[in-house]
Parts: sequence; C-alpha cells; structure tokens
Amino acid sequence: MLNPIDSRYEIEAVKWNGFLIKRMGTGDLEEVVSISSSSRFAPWSSEMFLGEMNHSFSHCFLIGSDEPPEGQALGFICFRTIQDESELLNLGVHPRFRKMGLGRSLMQFYIHFCTQMKVRRFYLEVSPSNEEALRLYRFLHYEPFGRRERFYGGKEDALLLVREI
Ligand SMILES: CC(C)(COP(=O)(O)OP(=O)(O)OC[C@H]1O[C@@H](n2cnc3c(N)ncnc32)[C@H](O)[C@@H]1OP(=O)(O)O)[C@@H](O)C(=O)NCCC(=O)NCCS
Repeated sequence: MLNPIDSRYEIEAVKWNGFLIKRMGTGDLEEVVSISSSSRFAPWSSEMFLGEMNHSFSHCFLIGSDEPPEGQALGFICFRTIQDESELLNLGVHPRFRKMGLGRSLMQFYIHFCTQMKVRRFYLEVSPSNEEALRLYRFLHYEPFGRRERFYGGKEDALLLVREI
C-alpha cells in the first residue's frame, strides 16, 4: 500500500511493503555507487547517477529498511518517463540483501508511480544472461519484443522487454 510521507505528487518518500523508498540525494551517492559497482549488470559512476538525478524526465529512488536506523541504502532504481512511456535505466540491490523482496518492491513502486503519471508502456533492456533480473521482469509481465546486437561492451546482446497496460 502506498502510504505517502509526503503527499505531493512529486513523492519524496513512501513506506512500501515494509521498506522505506525515498528519492535519491547527492548524500546517497557513495552508497549507491558502491551497490551499483558490485554488479557487472548495473555499474554506473557517480557522474552517471548525478546526470540522471538532474535530468528533468528522470527519477532516482533508493530503498532501505523502514526501521531505525533508517537511511542505509540497500538498493536503487532509476527511470525516465516521457508522456505515456517509461524506460527503466538501472536497478540494483546490495548483494547481501538480495532475494528478500527489495528488487520486486522497487519495481512494483516504479510501476505504481508511473501509472499515477498515466504511463502505459514500460520499456527496459536486459542481458539474456541476467537470469535473476529476467525472472523478476517476467513476474511483472514484461514481454520480449526485440534484441539489440552487441549492446553490452560491443559483445553481449541486449533483450528488449516491454510491459503494456
Ligand atoms: C535483479 C535484482 C535487482 C533482483 O533484486 P532482489 O532484491 O534479489 O529481487 P527480489 O528479492 O525481489 O526477488 C528475487 C527472488 O527472491 C525471491 N524472494 C523474494 N523475497 C524472498 C524472501 N523473503 N525469501 C526468499 N526468497 C525471496 C523472489 O521470489 C525472487 O525469486 P525468483 O527469482 O525465483 O522469482 C538483483 O539481483 C540485482 O541487483 N542484480 C544485479 C543488478 C542487475 O542485474 N540489475 C538489473 C539490470 S537490467
């Protein structure tokens, strides 16, 4: 259930599935970059996160415990929304906190948030070898619709997935 701590449309923080999801700030960058660089599938630099945080179509959120001490980032999500379309840009959960529902919660929050913004099509790209992410996206009803050849480092293809309402 959405329980807005800040009830403006531009949500700053919500309690979600027993976690706290809040908008990423510059003070979170060190933790977020550390989570991001722990995966070969989501390695963004501090500059890349900053670029998205300052982009007018982008939203970056992080997830943590909603019990004290609050504030430690356990995962993050970044996405863009333009009119009725959205693209997932990056998603990551701290390796020690995977398979606890954080990734799913971030994605469910993302879909809910975008649905409030009248988004009807959700796009993402994922490596075919990223089985954990693929299982999560399939669970959320994303369907494959194409492939980008040698997208990752000029070597690995990317699968293109879409979820339509
Ligand atoms: C993909 C990723 C974000 C998933 O995050 P996660 O927090 O582990 O995801 P969840 O915990 O919500 O779900 C993963 C699995 O754990 C299971 N799970 C969730 N809560 C659970 C619990 N309390 N106990 C046991 N299992 C649980 C889910 O059912 C799911 O199982 P399934 O894959 O067999 O369906 C994470 O693996 C990650 O950060 N990977 C590296 C970065 C990456 O690949 N990003 C995506 C780029 S496209």
